[in-house]
Amino acid sequence: MALEKDAGRFPLSAEKMPKHIAIIMDGNGRWAKKRGLPRKAGHKAGAETLEKIISAARELGLEHLTVYAFSTENWKRSQEEVDAIMNLLRQYLKNYFKKFIKDDVRMDVIGDINRLDADIQKQIMEIEQLSKEKTGLFVHIALNYGGRDELRRAMTKMAQEVVEGRLLPEEMTEDCIAGYLDTAGTPDPELVIRTSGEERISNFLLWQAAYSEFYFCDTLWPDFTKTELEKAVFAYQNRERRFGGR
Ligand code: FPP
Repeated sequence: MALEKDAGRFPLSAEKMPKHIAIIMDGNGRWAKKRGLPRKAGHKAGAETLEKIISAARELGLEHLTVYAFSTENWKRSQEEVDAIMNLLRQYLKNYFKKFIKDDVRMDVIGDINRLDADIQKQIMEIEQLSKEKTGLFVHIALNYGGRDELRRAMTKMAQEVVEGRLLPEEMTEDCIAGYLDTAGTPDPELVIRTSGEERISNFLLWQAAYSEFYFCDTLWPDFTKTELEKAVFAYQNRERRFGGR
């Protein structure tokens, strides 16, 4: 397993712990290909890794974890692959009631869920409702999510409210706009991680990542471990953040 030899090598400061980490979980397909397995086997392994990383995030004391599970562009993949991811999602959401709820984990979805199958939408709404009572780590799953689509939906809503006289153009401050996004109420991620050697934002959290630190690693998502997460946080804690100032 990547990096297990490094376990314990990244001492972290509790005071400088990020509140929110966002992850682009990339490399499932390549992980499967390397093993001569179908792509869906890579997604299955990726879903298992996500479960472990949610536990690791709780142990580190993060408040929010946002993961990019299905983008607005992912519908272009083969029907077989889309179906496999959706079935994993069904299992995942079911698992919430069995496992995560006991751990006080909260969960919600960012993205436009209207395009998802009705049974999945129902599961999501139930989880979001139950999650309101929880106070632990808040996991945000990005599904049918695209940063531009999120901004488009927010702008449409704001324009509608202006037309109806409920919002004035001069009231559209940055805070006001943030309140119309799917992430309303969630602090921006201090750290965005992307696995598998790709170094792109791919339409993820375009507004929210304006001042995020980025951490890229070659590890394919199914091989990502708690130690690798600690390494990313360690790298973040040793960077100087200036937010455009001096
Ligand atoms: C990127 O790998 C991964 C995805 C598009 C799907 C992410 C899905 C999971 C981690 C598992 C499912 C989890 C839930 C909650 C549904 P890729 O297929 O682009 O990999 P490649 O770049 O190597 O082809």
